[in-house]
Amino acid sequence: MNVMVAGGAGYIGSHAAKLLADAGHEVVVVDNLFRGHRRAVDSRSTFYELDLADHKGLTEVLSKHEIECVMHFAALAEVGESVREPLSYYENNTAGTVTLLQAMEAAGTRRMVFSSTCATYGEPEITPITESEKQSPINPYGWSKWCVERVLKDYTAAKPDFAFVALRYFNVAGCAADGTLGEDHRPETHLIPLVLHSALGLRDKLTIFGTDYPTPDGTCIRDYVHVEDLCQAHILAMQALEPGDTRFYNLGIGCGYSVSEVFDAGRRVTGRDIPVEYGDRRPGDPAILFSDASKLRNDLAWEPHYTEIDEIVETAWRWFKDHPNGYGV
Ligand code: UFG
Repeated sequence: MNVMVAGGAGYIGSHAAKLLADAGHEVVVVDNLFRGHRRAVDSRSTFYELDLADHKGLTEVLSKHEIECVMHFAALAEVGESVREPLSYYENNTAGTVTLLQAMEAAGTRRMVFSSTCATYGEPEITPITESEKQSPINPYGWSKWCVERVLKDYTAAKPDFAFVALRYFNVAGCAADGTLGEDHRPETHLIPLVLHSALGLRDKLTIFGTDYPTPDGTCIRDYVHVEDLCQAHILAMQALEPGDTRFYNLGIGCGYSVSEVFDAGRRVTGRDIPVEYGDRRPGDPAILFSDASKLRNDLAWEPHYTEIDEIVETAWRWFKDHPNGYGV
């Protein structure tokens, strides 16, 4: 299939482009390189430096390459930043997706696999979280993605030859098993990269945000899904789409690890000391977030390869220890 990967120079998009090319698809990557890295773009794909606001440019690329499906990863994805800069989130994540859909309409591309998030649930009432849990985001990032889900539903109702699947990610983690691709956010705020930076001596000390949560060790529990398992789910979802489909799936492994357990995994995998201090809760962090991913498993026969936190951290360590400066020189 001819697939456009929007945001294909970013962490998740670059892994998706690689796995799509491995599976024999023709891949076109578009990315504005605001947060993405040119070096992360798979060499087998055709690359365009384009912004989601560029309707004309997107339409030309979609038409020229006869794109059949767009995998849409291009988004700002920092919760704290979204609280400080909400307009950037609605502009890039929500309005940008509308422009992309308009370009797809102009070019006749009728399928989208959309990167949504468990942040659309906000503080869930019940865990594990199923797709029928009430969606009530607690930050602009979650709302900006929720809005896109709404747009996609309305658009498909109006144009039933269109189809989409929205995948609601939990905590995406790890790096390409062959060590070729990694995770390089600037600034970095995610737990596993920070733990590994600390193991490399790039940071003095990390803070565990909150030790008084109602969990067995008092620290937050999250569902860490390996980036390659997550990307395989995108390929399965893309292949399953039929005209008129409006699919929503939670994308996690269905079990959680605590922040302390992630630190312990980091120490075991790296064999290095990772100093820690204990701090206050980070505002907006729910205590426990993990998925019920049975809908995805049942509908698409998706099975994650990685379910142990040590294995996930191990794939990340392979890349981080060889790339202490990330994609930088
Ligand atoms: N944490 C620490 N110390 C740190 C960094 C993180 O204790 O220095 C903790 C957090 O408080 C949280 C856990 O580690 O309990 C994981 O934090 P991350 O920042 O790695 O990930 P989040 O769970 O906050 O965010 C993820 C995605 C978001 C998504 C969100 C949905 O990165 O894009 O899940 O809740 F919106």
